[in-house]
Amino acid sequence: MSDLYGIIGCPVGHSMSPEIHNRSFSDQKLDAVYHRFHVEKDQLGAAINGMRALGIQGVNVTIPHKENVLAYLDHVDKTAAEMGAVNTIVNRNGVLTGYNTDGPGYLESIKPYLASPLSEMNCLIIGAGGAARGIYTALAHAQTGRIDLANRTKEKAEAIIRECDSSVPGRPLSLEEAEYHLGEYQLVIQTTSIGMAPKLNDQPISLENITEGTLVSDIIYNPVKTAFMKDAEQRGCRTVTGVGMFIYQAALSFRYWTGIMPDIQIMESVVMEKLG
Ligand code: ATR
Repeated sequence: MSDLYGIIGCPVGHSMSPEIHNRSFSDQKLDAVYHRFHVEKDQLGAAINGMRALGIQGVNVTIPHKENVLAYLDHVDKTAAEMGAVNTIVNRNGVLTGYNTDGPGYLESIKPYLASPLSEMNCLIIGAGGAARGIYTALAHAQTGRIDLANRTKEKAEAIIRECDSSVPGRPLSLEEAEYHLGEYQLVIQTTSIGMAPKLNDQPISLENITEGTLVSDIIYNPVKTAFMKDAEQRGCRTVTGVGMFIYQAALSFRYWTGIMPDIQIMESVVMEKLG
């Protein structure tokens, strides 16, 4: 009998996770199948208990369940607990453990592009939602030199810095303050939803003050290149699209479930085929 995996969310119809995991299972010659599970908010507890009852080996968790799911698990990994969000569950003989591979996946995706160690870099994260919190925590664990957080609602940026309780220096900024200070950063990370359809030409801040050669990344992967990425390229910055983070978070989940790191190039080709 094949091992069962899947993604729990609402909506899940658009998710590319089934394609990349199923291709990786067959590439690794593993007898396993990955499904989409549409789970409404009030059914989350039942769905998680269903994992135990049905012997589902592992799932990814997506919007809107990443925060609420912690309450239904037996164990939560330390980093995921700090992030307050789980995107990966492993079922070992009915014992469910939650992990978060979003922030670590982001870090993996930028590693090949880093010109100097993170400890020597000043970073700016734009946005203060769940994705920003995960990336902030991962960068703080990596002892990044400085991490500033800029958000339309500055209080949310303040809360992330306060709650993460890290020794890494950083300040909360308004979007206008971030534009003013932009020349101070070697790494800029765009985590808001600005730039997705239908507002493809929008970007969260002006890049007028950015220094040439700065590494600029966007976690949006559809479109692969946002207006923000195109603007950064035109200003002589190096860029990393959100495809890398999407693939690496999936690859790290796959490794938690199977112990095997899947072929990143195969995962990338599946995503790029779908995105055209
Ligand atoms: P996720 O969990 O995917 O990160 P989220 O929690 O909805 O998503 O966070 C969305 C982020 O995009 C927030 O930082 C939000 O800013 P606010 O905290 O001020 O709401 C930001 N965002 C979304 N639309 C925006 C807009 N039009 N202008 C500026 N920021 C925006």
